[in-house]
Amino acid sequence: MWVSLETIVAWAKRRWFAYPGSDIYGGLANARDLGPYGTELKKNIEDNRRKYFVQEREDIIWIDSQILMNPKVREASGHVGGFSDPLIDCKKCKSRERADKLIEEYLHKNKTKETELPKHRAGEKTPAEDMMDFINAKKIKCPKCWTCDWTDPKKFNLMFKTQQGVIEGEWTDIYLRPETAQGIFVNFKNILDTMRVRIPFGIAQVGKAFRNEITPGNFMFRVREFYQMEIEYFVENDEKVWLKAFKEWMETSKKRWIDEIGIKKDKLKFREHDKEELSFYSKGTFDVEYEFPRGWGELQWIAYRTDYDLKQHIEHSGKDLQYSDPHTGKRYVPHVIEPSWGLTRAILTAMIDAYDEEKYTDGNGAEQTRVVARFHKNIAPVKFAIIPLVKKDEKMVRIAKEIHKRLSKTYMCEFDDSGNIGKSYRRQDEIGTPYCITVDHQSIDPKDWTVTLRMRDDMKQIRIKPEDIKF
Ligand code: GLY
Repeated sequence: MWVSLETIVAWAKRRWFAYPGSDIYGGLANARDLGPYGTELKKNIEDNRRKYFVQEREDIIWIDSQILMNPKVREASGHVGGFSDPLIDCKKCKSRERADKLIEEYLHKNKTKETELPKHRAGEKTPAEDMMDFINAKKIKCPKCWTCDWTDPKKFNLMFKTQQGVIEGEWTDIYLRPETAQGIFVNFKNILDTMRVRIPFGIAQVGKAFRNEITPGNFMFRVREFYQMEIEYFVENDEKVWLKAFKEWMETSKKRWIDEIGIKKDKLKFREHDKEELSFYSKGTFDVEYEFPRGWGELQWIAYRTDYDLKQHIEHSGKDLQYSDPHTGKRYVPHVIEPSWGLTRAILTAMIDAYDEEKYTDGNGAEQTRVVARFHKNIAPVKFAIIPLVKKDEKMVRIAKEIHKRLSKTYMCEFDDSGNIGKSYRRQDEIGTPYCITVDHQSIDPKDWTVTLRMRDDMKQIRIKPEDIKF
C-alpha cells in the first residue's frame, strides 16, 4: 500500500522505532534517536549484510576505523576542496537552499523530464550558472516565503569541522568523517601486510558518517548524522575486469534488498548518475533507488572510484600502497568498486516497505483495521512474543516465562502480560513480530500442554507443543 511519510513518522514514534532527538529540549533539526525496535531493526539489517558479504564470502573482510582522522586524510581524499553543495539564499527571507534540490523537487512535482534541464557545455556556463538559469526561467520559488529572488550560488563544504587538543590556541581543526570509505583506504597497506588477501578482495565497514546538509528532511532520509555500510572492492587495473566486477555488484545488490531484507521488487530501480551529478572521485555511479512516499531516492550506490583514492594517499602520505601480484610479480595500484549502503536509509526503507493497514472482522463480527508491519522475518525486531492469556494465572505465567527464557537465548523475544490478548496481538502486529505464542487453558492441562502459535501475516492460529516451535 502507499503510505504517507507522516503516517510512518507517527508509527515510528508510537512504537519507539525512532524518536526526535533531544526532544525534551525542543529537539534538534532532523536528529532521530532509535528506540528499542529501531535499534534491533538496524542491528538485524547490519547482521544480515555482515553475514552475507563477510561471513559467507571468502573475499571480504571487516574493519572498524575511527571517525576522527588526521586532517591530511581529508585533504588527500579531496573532501576539503571538493565536497560541497551549490547554495543559494532567498534575498527576501534569507532562507538558504540547495539549488540542485530545488530543481529536483520542481521536476518531481511538475513531472518534468530531466532532459529539460539545461546541460552544461564545457567553455560555456558553469553547472551552477546553468542551474540558476533553470531556477529563474521556471521561477522556482523559495519554499519558505514564496518569492523568486535568489542570490548567486555559493559552494558550501558539507563536512562538520571541530577542534582537537586541550590547550587553547593550539587546537587542530579536524573533521567528522563524511564517509567511512577513507578509513578503509588508509588501512589498505596494513591489510595487505597482515591478512593474506589476494585481489580481487573487499574491505567492509559499518559506522557513523556526518554531513552538514543544508536541507535535511524527509524524516530519516536526509539527516546530518547517519550510518553507512560501505565496501571498497579492490580489482585489477583492467577495464574488462572492473566492468565485470561492477556488473556483478549491480546484480548482487538489487537481489540482496529483495531476498534478505524483503523489499518489494517493483519499488526498486537503478539510476545512473549523469556527469554533473558524479562525485569528484567517481568515473561512473549507479544508484539503487527506492520509491519513497515523496518520490524515488537513493538507497545504495555502486561507484567506480578508479585508483583515485589510493593514488591520492600515495601522493600525500608518501607511502607505497601498491599491490604485488604473487603469481606474475606485477605491481600496481588497484582500482576500486564501491557498493555501499545508507544504513539509516535502509531502516527507513524497511519500515515504509513493511507498513500495512488491513481490514478484518473481529470475534464479535465488527469490522476493524489493524496496522501490521510485514517485516521479512530476518529483520523483524522481535521474533516471538510470549503471552500468558490470564495474567493472574500463576501456572500460565510460569510456563510463559519458561518458554520466554528458552527462546530468548537464541531470539529477541518479548514477554507480554498485559492481560488483554486482543491488545497484545495488535501491539505485536505493529511492531512486526512474526509469531505470538499464547499460553492458555490447554497449555496448563497436563493432558495437552500445547500453546497457541499465532501468525502475524494472516492471523492464523495453530496449536503446537512449545518444544516444536521453530523459527
Ligand atoms: N563513500 C561514498 C559516499 O559516502 O558518498
